[in-house]
Amino acid sequence: MPTLVLGIETTAHTFGIGIVDDKGAVLANERESFTTSHEGMIPWKVAEHHFDRWKSVLDAALARARVTLRDVGLVAFSQGPGMGHCLRVGSFLARCIALKYGTPILGVNHCIAHLSIGQLRTAARDPVLLYTSGANTQVIAFEGRKYRVVGETLDMGVGNFLDSVARELGLGFPGGPKLEQLARKGRKLIELPYTVKGMDVSFGGLFTNLRQTIRAKRHRAENLVFSLQETVFAMLVEIAERAMAHTGKDELLLGGGVACNARLQEMCRIMCKERGAAFFVPENEFLVDNGAMIAWQGLLEHRAGRKQRLRDTGILPHWRTDQVAAAWR
Ligand code: ATP
Ligand code: FE2
Repeated sequence: MPTLVLGIETTAHTFGIGIVDDKGAVLANERESFTTSHEGMIPWKVAEHHFDRWKSVLDAALARARVTLRDVGLVAFSQGPGMGHCLRVGSFLARCIALKYGTPILGVNHCIAHLSIGQLRTAARDPVLLYTSGANTQVIAFEGRKYRVVGETLDMGVGNFLDSVARELGLGFPGGPKLEQLARKGRKLIELPYTVKGMDVSFGGLFTNLRQTIRAKRHRAENLVFSLQETVFAMLVEIAERAMAHTGKDELLLGGGVACNARLQEMCRIMCKERGAAFFVPENEFLVDNGAMIAWQGLLEHRAGRKQRLRDTGILPHWRTDQVAAAWR
């Protein structure tokens, strides 16, 4: 029987359990995500959501894969980066399983897991990853035996930025999908601050500008949201393109929840076509935070011989992509 890996994802608003085998078949990828109708994401409330749902999500994943915890050969979990309250739920559950069943355990880096699952699900071999989620906005490339952050946000993640704008408009959380719908009705392009600094982007100034504009009711919401998508996605595409030029890589891969946005995908596709590069985007269930990517990352590292003692499985909320020893590559 192939090795089965159970992956636990809890860096932010999603509690996810994935089960993969050592051929890369995804046997289960179950998740439940915290949502609210008007306020934002409050860390302890999100952790409470995860404590409330872990059992039903775990049971659903085991049932879908038709296995039991005794069949699992490795338990992997997101060790960081992420919100401490949330990460603790996943690490605690992983340790409980490891202790009860004597299963090997591995904490993996969440950002790199986004890249690895994209490679598994698409034909991308050595891509530049544009990783756009709630808390994270990074351009990542593998160079000189390390995953390097070639460009990133200097303040908030693009998803948090979109969610904050949505909150100002009274649209609830998560706001990204609601903004995407609204933007489809926009017709007029309003000029907004465009902030690219070298290889990095920033959203703080743009957010202040938008908040004032929204409160003053200076423009129709659909035009404003259409314009903000055009502006912000152009910033992201610009740094992704520059990263491809700098690293000499000819593949672009998307990851993170914001990458579900059809307009962002379209803009990336156009950019890649113009420079003769290949563009890859996995299915939405592997773009958003999910347990399968954690399981697959765990398997890659386990295969490369990485082992972790239980006492080293504490959470790493500020774990940086370039601090990861990439022995499996
Ligand atoms: P992390 O930052 O730890 O990777 P996360 O909690 O942000 O995780 P994701 O599921 O990757 O998790 O991304 C969620 C974000 O994606 C939210 O900010 C949400 O608004 C945004 N999002 C989801 N769908 C869309 C969409 N269609 N368009 C724009 N943004 C979207
Ligand atoms: Fe993520």
